[in-house]
Amino acid sequence: PIVTSKEMFKKAYDGGYAIGAFNVNNMEIIQGITEAAKEVNAPLILQVSAGARKYAKHVYLMKLIEAAEADTGLPICIHLDHGENFDVCKSCIDGGFTSVMIDGSKHSFEENIRLTSEVVKYAHDRGVVVEGELGKLAGIEDDVNVSEEDSSFTRPDEVEEFVSKTGVDSLAIAIGTSHGAYKFKPGQKPRLRFDILEEVSRRLPGFPIVLHGASSVIPELVRIINENGGAMPDAIGIPEDMLRQAARSAVCKINIDSDLRLAMTAGIRQYMAKNPAHFDPRQYLTPGRDNIRTLVKNKIVNVLGSDGKA
Ligand code: G3H
Ligand code: 13P
Ligand code: NA
Ligand code: ZN
Repeated sequence: PIVTSKEMFKKAYDGGYAIGAFNVNNMEIIQGITEAAKEVNAPLILQVSAGARKYAKHVYLMKLIEAAEADTGLPICIHLDHGENFDVCKSCIDGGFTSVMIDGSKHSFEENIRLTSEVVKYAHDRGVVVEGELGKLAGIEDDVNVSEEDSSFTRPDEVEEFVSKTGVDSLAIAIGTSHGAYKFKPGQKPRLRFDILEEVSRRLPGFPIVLHGASSVIPELVRIINENGGAMPDAIGIPEDMLRQAARSAVCKINIDSDLRLAMTAGIRQYMAKNPAHFDPRQYLTPGRDNIRTLVKNKIVNVLGSDGKA
């Protein structure tokens, strides 16, 4: 069934695991993810960004996800990733999504509350759940000193007021993860502020927390890309043991996009390098999709712990 994340998060919170929230942009990505989840019986959040809607069109992604649900029978939540205003959230709610993120983190605290409340009201009246965000996602490397560093991370003293005034169903926080394939400087020791996560969850007992920017940037995939004509020096992500630690905590949703991109790209580059005369897209997209299937299965079983929970 197509579901909200309400039940998923409750079970994940109580069970000490996290649901994988995977970004989707085309059929091969959707098939790779959902076929993997089917093999290990895991519930899924498939998330769609504004860029994904622009690339593939809302209706195509909606129909492809419905097809994946029909094919697998898994509980799947369809989520808008990083909605930046009321209108995009409304469009996704009206268009059949069961969950939206309103990302008001770039606004003032007061404006974030106002905007998020507006989306929550529209969504809840229609049975749709909402993810909000407090704190700015940026790598620790972007921050020069401790006071600046603390200013971009989520402030635990704001979370209770934000959640109670807006009525959001989950909260994304900034503890040192960042988007993309270059999360830490070369030679820098990856570090996440688990102390902030603990303080947030102490203040919000039972409340689901979301981690963005949580790809591991799998070194093996980066190596394959670089050995087959790619150029991604110093790509680095969040170590898997830190993600496992997060999954055991109040974190109920872990967002993964970059690792999917690396898996697809590694498969295609490797195939292209070995088969320069081939030109049938089905031939080179197959190893891309296979890589995504393998990646997602490993994530679910070895990092998220959501296997067997569908
Ligand atoms: O948070 C960003 C996601 O990785 C989506 O990226 O906006 O390029 O689709 P995108
Ligand atoms: P990554 O770039 O680490 O995969 O993060 C994805 C994300 O947070 C999507 O919202
Ligand atoms: Na958890
Ligand atoms: Zn994100």
